[in-house]
Amino acid sequence: MTDRQTVMELRPGTTPPSEMDSDAAAGELAALAAAIAWHDERYHGEDDPAISDSDYDALVARNRDLEAAFPDLVRDDSPSRRVGAPAAAGFGKVRHTRPMLSLNNGFSDEDIADFVTRVKRFLSLADDAPLGFTAEPKIDGLSLSLRYEEGRFVQAATRGDGTEGEDVTANVRMVDAVPARLAGTPPSILEVRGELYMDRADFLALNMAQQDSGGKIFANPRNAAAGSLRQKDPAVTASRRLQFFAYSLGEVSAPLADTHMLSLEALSDMGFSINPLSRRCDEVADLLAVYGEIGAARADLGYDIDGVVYKVDRHDYQARLGQVARAPRWALAHKFPAEQAETLLNAIDIQVGRTGALTPVARLAPVTVGGVVVSNATLHNEDEIRRKDIRVGDRVVIQRAGDVIPQVVRVIPEARPAESTEFVFPETCPECGAPANRPEGEAVRRCTNSLECPAQRLEWLKHFVSRDAFDIEGLGARQIDQFVELGWVRRPADIFRLAARRTEMAELDGYGDVSIGNLLAAIEARREIGFERFIFALGIRQIGQATARILALHFTRPEEMLAALSPPADLETTTAELVAIDQIGEAMVADLIGFFAGDSNRAAVEDLLAQLSVVPPERPAEDSAVSGKTIVFTGTLAGMSRAEAKARAESLGAKVSGSVSAKTNYLVAGADAGSKARKATELGVTVLNEDEWLAMISGDGPG
Ligand code: IVH
Repeated sequence: MTDRQTVMELRPGTTPPSEMDSDAAAGELAALAAAIAWHDERYHGEDDPAISDSDYDALVARNRDLEAAFPDLVRDDSPSRRVGAPAAAGFGKVRHTRPMLSLNNGFSDEDIADFVTRVKRFLSLADDAPLGFTAEPKIDGLSLSLRYEEGRFVQAATRGDGTEGEDVTANVRMVDAVPARLAGTPPSILEVRGELYMDRADFLALNMAQQDSGGKIFANPRNAAAGSLRQKDPAVTASRRLQFFAYSLGEVSAPLADTHMLSLEALSDMGFSINPLSRRCDEVADLLAVYGEIGAARADLGYDIDGVVYKVDRHDYQARLGQVARAPRWALAHKFPAEQAETLLNAIDIQVGRTGALTPVARLAPVTVGGVVVSNATLHNEDEIRRKDIRVGDRVVIQRAGDVIPQVVRVIPEARPAESTEFVFPETCPECGAPANRPEGEAVRRCTNSLECPAQRLEWLKHFVSRDAFDIEGLGARQIDQFVELGWVRRPADIFRLAARRTEMAELDGYGDVSIGNLLAAIEARREIGFERFIFALGIRQIGQATARILALHFTRPEEMLAALSPPADLETTTAELVAIDQIGEAMVADLIGFFAGDSNRAAVEDLLAQLSVVPPERPAEDSAVSGKTIVFTGTLAGMSRAEAKARAESLGAKVSGSVSAKTNYLVAGADAGSKARKATELGVTVLNEDEWLAMISGDGPG
C-alpha cells in the first residue's frame, strides 16, 4: 500500500463488516490508514485536498465501521487514534474560542508524584507546600463543548482537532442530559465542556435493538455514543439515551468560581450532571487513594471509565501553568491498566441465531476481569478462531474490550496440552444437521434450513412475541420454549390456537385457571395488530422497526405486500419501487423477497394472516394538540399500557422521552408516580393526570 496512485485513489470497501473475515478487514484497515494519512497531509499540510470532503468522510466512516466490527484489529497508526482528525464534512465546522485540550497520561504511582512535583516547581512552591487538586473519573466517551448565551443553549461542537470541531448543535439539542436552559444566573457567555457517553445498560439494549433491526452493532458504549451523535437525522439521536458529565469550561464572560471544584458545583446548580465521585485532594497519597477507590467502584458504575483525572484546583494556578503542546500542565490522566485475565477454555459452542448465523462462543472457567465474573467470550467467527489458533483445552488471555464484551485475545502456547487438536468449525448446523453455507467473501456461515431448523424457529418465535413485536403479556421466551417443546407451537399462527389446549395447559406446573385465562385473553387481544408491528414480528433479516414502519406505510395492507413480494409478482418492478423509498436499500429488498420466496415462510404468513385482523398504519397527524411536544409518561396508567400510550402520543406527532428535563412539555402521571413527578414540578413542567391527558388528545386522530 505504498504505491502513491493506489493510496490516492482508494475508495471505501462495500462488503458489510459483519460479512468480512479478519484477514480482509486487516488488509482494508491498513489501506485506509495509509490513504487517510495521505489525504490529511494534502488537506492540512498542503491545503490542497485531493478528494471531496464527502469522499474523505466515507473513508473515515469505513475505517470506523471496520474498527467497530474488529476492535482488536485497530492499528497503532489508525486514523481514529490520531489527535488531529479533522472535522468531518456533513456537519458544519466550529472554531473553538478556547482550544479543546487533551490530557497527558501517567501510569505508575511514581508518574503521579512526578506530576505533583513538576507542578509545584513550575509555580515555585516548596516541595512540601500545600497544593489542592481534584480527582475525578476519566469518562470514556467523547468530549463536547456546549455554548450558552444568556443561559440558553446555542451551540454544541465536538473536539475535532482541538482547534476546530464539528457543529453538532441540532443533534445535541435532542439530548435530555444537556440542559436547554440553565438555572440560576449564569454568565452571559458560558462554554461548558464535558463528556457525552452512554450507560452500559443502554448500550446493550441499543445493540439488541440494532441486531433485531439489522442495524449497526457498536463495539462499545463509546462508539455507540459517537455513532448516536453523528447522525444526519437528529430524531435518531433523540431515540438514543445519551448522558453528559460536565468537567471543565471554555470561554466564560465571568468566572464561576476561584477553583475547579467550586466551578463544578456552580455547573451542577445550573443543571448539569457532575460526576459524583469527584473529590478534592491535598496530597499525592490522597490522589492515589481516590484512584484506588474509583478503580474499585469501576465495575459497578454502569458506564465506562478508563482512568482518573487529576487537576490543580485553583483557576489562577491553572492559568499560570498553561499548556504544553495540546495538553495542560495542570492536569494528568492516571490510566487504569488494561483489563485482562487468564483462564481455561473449556469448550467452543456454536449458537444458531434467528437468521441462521452460526456464532462460536468460548465457554470459560469463570474468571474475574476488572471486577466482573466472565464465563463466556465471543470468538466472532471461524476465521477468527483459525487466525488465533484457539483450541478447546487452551489457556487463553481474555479481555473486556471497551469494558463490555469479553474477547479471547490470544492463547498461551506453552500451556497447550500435548493432545490438543485444531478446532474444526462445523459445516453443518449443530442444531438440525442441515448444511451450513458460507458464501464467498462472507465471514458468517449460516444454516440453510430456514425455519425448518428448530433453533432458528425457536429464535424466530421468541422474536415474534418480543416487546416490539406482538408483545403478548404472559407469553415470553420461557413459555415459547415450553410450548415448542410440547409441540403445541410450531409457527406463529399456532399461538392463536392455544385456546384449544386449555385443558392440557391446566396440567402444566405453574398454570392455574386465572393465569391461563389471562394468557388466552392477552392472545385474543392481539388478534388485532398494527401492520408495522406485524411486519417487524416476521423477523426478516434487516427489517427492523423503522423499516417495518416504512413498509407498512408503503403497502398499507398485508395482502398488497404479499402480492408484491411473492411469485408470480414482477420482482424487478417491486425492487425498483422499494429502493426508490428513502432508507430502503437493495440488500434489504433482497432479504425481503428472499423471505417470501420460501414456500414454508409464505405458508406460515398466510396461516397467520387468517388468524388476525391487521390494522393499517396511522399517518402522523400534523396539527394535533401535542404534535412537536415532548411528553414523559410515568406511573401506572389505568386505561392502557405504557407502550400503547407512547405509540398513541407518537402517532399524534409527539416525542416521547423517558426522563424529565427542562425540554419536557407534559408529564403524564398515572398511579404511583414518583420522582419524575417531583422533578417535573421542580422544573415547572405541566403535569397531567390520565384523564386530562385523554381529554387533551381526544378529538385528535382515531380512537
Ligand atoms: S479534562 C483541559 N476531565 O479525556 C482538560 N477530560 O484524554 C481537558 N475526559 O479530551 C479535559 N473525562 O474527552 C477532563 N473528567 C475529565 C474527563 C476528560 C474524560 C476526556 C476528554 C479529553 C480526553 C483526554
